Amino acid sequence: MRKLVSLALAAALTVTTLRAQGIEHGVMPAPRSIVLAPGGVRVDSGLTVALTGFRDARLERATIRMIERFEARAAQPMSRSLGATSGARLVIDVKAAGFAVPDLREDESYTIDVDATRATLTANTVVGAMRGMETLLQLQAYDRTGGFLPAARISDAPRFPWRGVNIDVARHFHPVAAIKRTLDGMAAVKLNVLHWHLSDDQGFRADSRTFPRLTGLGSDSLFYTQDEMRDVVAYAADRGIRVVPEFDVPGHTTAWMVGYPELASAPGPYQIERRWGVFHPTMDPTRESTYQFLDRFIAEMVTIFPDRYWHIGGDEVDPTQWKASTSIQEWMTRNGVKDLHALQTHFNKRLFTMLDKHQREPVGWDEILQPDLPRNAVIQSWRGMNGLTQAAKQGRPAILSAPFYLDHIKTSAEMYREEIIPAGLTDAEAALVLGGEACMWAEYVTSETLDSRLWPRLAAVAERFWSPAHVTDVGDMYRRLDLVSRRLEEAGTLHASHTGRMLRRIAGSSDAATLETFLDYARPRGFAGRGTNQLSPLTRLIDAALPDPLGGWRMQLLAQRAVSGDTAAARMLRRDFARMATFETALHEMQPRVPLARDGFELSGALGTLARIGIEALDARRATTTPPAARSARSDSLLKSIEGKTFGLLRPVGAEAVRILLTN
Ligand code: ACM
Repeated sequence: MRKLVSLALAAALTVTTLRAQGIEHGVMPAPRSIVLAPGGVRVDSGLTVALTGFRDARLERATIRMIERFEARAAQPMSRSLGATSGARLVIDVKAAGFAVPDLREDESYTIDVDATRATLTANTVVGAMRGMETLLQLQAYDRTGGFLPAARISDAPRFPWRGVNIDVARHFHPVAAIKRTLDGMAAVKLNVLHWHLSDDQGFRADSRTFPRLTGLGSDSLFYTQDEMRDVVAYAADRGIRVVPEFDVPGHTTAWMVGYPELASAPGPYQIERRWGVFHPTMDPTRESTYQFLDRFIAEMVTIFPDRYWHIGGDEVDPTQWKASTSIQEWMTRNGVKDLHALQTHFNKRLFTMLDKHQREPVGWDEILQPDLPRNAVIQSWRGMNGLTQAAKQGRPAILSAPFYLDHIKTSAEMYREEIIPAGLTDAEAALVLGGEACMWAEYVTSETLDSRLWPRLAAVAERFWSPAHVTDVGDMYRRLDLVSRRLEEAGTLHASHTGRMLRRIAGSSDAATLETFLDYARPRGFAGRGTNQLSPLTRLIDAALPDPLGGWRMQLLAQRAVSGDTAAARMLRRDFARMATFETALHEMQPRVPLARDGFELSGALGTLARIGIEALDARRATTTPPAARSARSDSLLKSIEGKTFGLLRPVGAEAVRILLTN
């Protein structure tokens, strides 16, 4: 079923895109400039690769990984000798190593030139070459003989130097394997920052030898050893990805205080927090011992995390403990610190001095943007665009996250349509915007569901971060997303197998197949509203559902084509509606065998209604007489009761298509 939908999608999108652009490629993020031509070079056992310029072990490893992926696709052995042979079919010419440790200032540009005999990838740095290799892998096309790299001229460089994703491993822990496959997916779509949210109220995940009770008492034994963290940093560096650690302070710190209650602004004892939200435990910014602790902790962690940047968190500081503490209030009076914002700024300034000593630059969530904050901090704007705008206007570097919260379960299109540079900035201010980060908060995500919440939507966000601002065609984005989604699994991610894997736990095979079809028309509800905590299993129908099933966009396209008179599209859409109408009965029928099918009851009823309105609208289009106004009004009001609504824990897919039919 999923395969059929996917093929139909590809067919529908190809037609539209070809018509619009006269050319198509599968590269995502879209390069700055790409021109395709007929012909090209074969990708078969004769594919020989030569490194003709600078070479080092990192470049060689990256090249071998690329060859292995080409080889697996062709199912033919390929040479791994990377000699400088003149007859090589793929020549990689690198000027220099670039930064030894992945760096914000890295030159990631590259060019690709494929003619009838040879493909040439040129880059100034090893990382630039890696970006180009991912493009080559995505560029591969097929004809009757097999795979080939089409003749092409590509010139590419990122729009922004900071293109990241924040992975929360505190709310739910994601083991090293999950982080590594995420890094592989990131490399495939040219993301270059893993922002690792290593501590929060619900867990402390980085092992410290200086302070062993941090993980000893604050992690449920779910943490990374120092060797594991070093391994992740090396794995990321091998793919040109920076790792920015975040130890969120002074709020979101309950897990620190389980082992070290003296850090808090109120006496303990403290327990690992199991609920979601913002909690009272907050570090005491008035005690020297707090800074001595943090200084020793940072001194230890900078030996593991070589990146120039260090994320201090700084978000959602709950002032309850600060207000209630007489010693803190007295300290503020004595030191002329006028309010609680100023107290946090005092804390931040102490921290920045410490980071400076350890040769690290601070990054913080936008709450840290208070008058008096030192200039060098990078502001991560998450509560809207305002933090970004204010930071840039004050001459500070900034990155944008607000529109890219993956846990809010927006569609790829919704996130893709966001622009990163706010209106009203001068060129100089806009130049301070370093890029963006998607956020994968883990209240409702486990390592089992992580991939499906990241991918493929993160690829659409990656395009927003990399590609020129004028690349905004949502239809073409979805066409390429369908292709890149399959290639991401080749790189190691597990999102495409996700739904089937979870459904096989929920139901037997034939019921699982029905539920999988049902989930083609279902999305999880947005952030929150589940009433779960850290100990609740996340193994229900909502967890198996995908954030943005591609069928939703496919149905919108079919509806657009149907209203412009395409009868084949109308027939395909009718088949969708016919399917949607079956779930109410099917889910009730399977209920005795599959208790969790009840999660879909409410939505199955709504899908039945959508199907009825949709079929009526298609019928009305076919009829020669216009439908009575009363019926249109009834359809409209029924549709309004479904559009944008949540049914149990699920939301419908297909309402947009029905809306197109009703209004055109
Ligand atoms: C955040 O989402 N609290 C940064």
